[in-house]
Amino acid sequence: MIGFKKVKEGLVEIFAPDVKIPEEGKKYGFYNPRMKMDRDISVAILSVFKDKFRKSSEISICDLMGGTGIRGIRYKKEVGGNVVINDINKNSVELIKKNVLLNSLDIKVESEEARFLLHKYRSSKNLFDFIDLDPFGSPATFIDSVAICLKDFSLVGVTATDTSLFGLYPKTCLRKYGVISFKSPFYRELGTRILLSFLIREFARFGKALQPILSYSILHYIRIYAISKNSIEECNKVLDKFKDISEDMKRFRLNIGKGINIYCGELHNKNFLLDVSERLKEMGSEGIKITNLASTELDNLFYFDIAWEAKKNKIRKMPSLNKIIEILLDKGYDASRTIFCSTGIKTSADIEVIQEILKD
Ligand SMILES: C[S@@+](CC[C@H](N)C(=O)[O-])C[C@H]1O[C@@H](n2cnc3c(N)ncnc32)[C@H](O)[C@@H]1O
Repeated sequence: MIGFKKVKEGLVEIFAPDVKIPEEGKKYGFYNPRMKMDRDISVAILSVFKDKFRKSSEISICDLMGGTGIRGIRYKKEVGGNVVINDINKNSVELIKKNVLLNSLDIKVESEEARFLLHKYRSSKNLFDFIDLDPFGSPATFIDSVAICLKDFSLVGVTATDTSLFGLYPKTCLRKYGVISFKSPFYRELGTRILLSFLIREFARFGKALQPILSYSILHYIRIYAISKNSIEECNKVLDKFKDISEDMKRFRLNIGKGINIYCGELHNKNFLLDVSERLKEMGSEGIKITNLASTELDNLFYFDIAWEAKKNKIRKMPSLNKIIEILLDKGYDASRTIFCSTGIKTSADIEVIQEILKD
């Protein structure tokens, strides 16, 4: 048996397993303090979504895999609305109920297999304005159930902690997401785009167009927030942004052969993110670093990892990233930092131009 400790996060307080590493508490209610920043971002995005699009109506929120219930409890306290928190693990459900009581909130706690819960809600015509899907590992097998349980013009947040997306297990990635991955210096963006491509195609099957708000990858995970809109026309527009990336890969000196067809459009809604950054600033959250970077990132496909290039070319002392960006802009190229890599640059310049700058 393990003990429990009180943890403060955002405007709430919860009981979480008193363990050294989150995995040790998995059986009793999974809680990872390192994901606080991501939960702050979720709260901020939901809050902006509500202010922009659901000002005059009650919002219905589903925290599909609650763990301790921290997400759903924060949504209720910090944003408001009708909240359902679900988990398949009976111990988790007990803990979620205890945490809901601790915060004196009115939240419905369910104890179902996620897909079953969604189909149950759908069959009684109770669709959601926001579904947060935060599984262990891959979200792939839950996406169709999530898609059909969302209202028109609603919000979805999806986490993946799946290394097959990062190019380590190409065949696994093909099996789960329909795209063969490959090793690359920009593996975080590639994995994020493969996941987003999968989400877009799955939603499109139901005539739902997914428009990304924020897509990023740090630590061990990828997280995507998007708006789902019922529209065949919009679906077709998003699907038009898919293309075979074999030609593009030549810029990065990668020969991958034809057949890797992924979403190459924008990864973020920069206007929306300006408001999210404001909200995160009010919350005093580190998450603002992510949203600020995303709002200034170019939409170009992939990035050069400058540290990796410098190492490959045996360059010991390289200019700062800001300096390199300044030089590229002076030369007439576009250039920006990227959300995916602290030493990465997105630019229209070719690798030779970057190598010249590094050698100067
Ligand atoms: C990563 S944890 C959730 C963490 C939580 N959202 C947070 O932010 O702290 C994943 C949770 O999903 C639950 N889970 C796994 N498979 C499930 C399923 N098929 N249906 C419902 N819950 C499931 C697990 O019991 C676990 O509590």
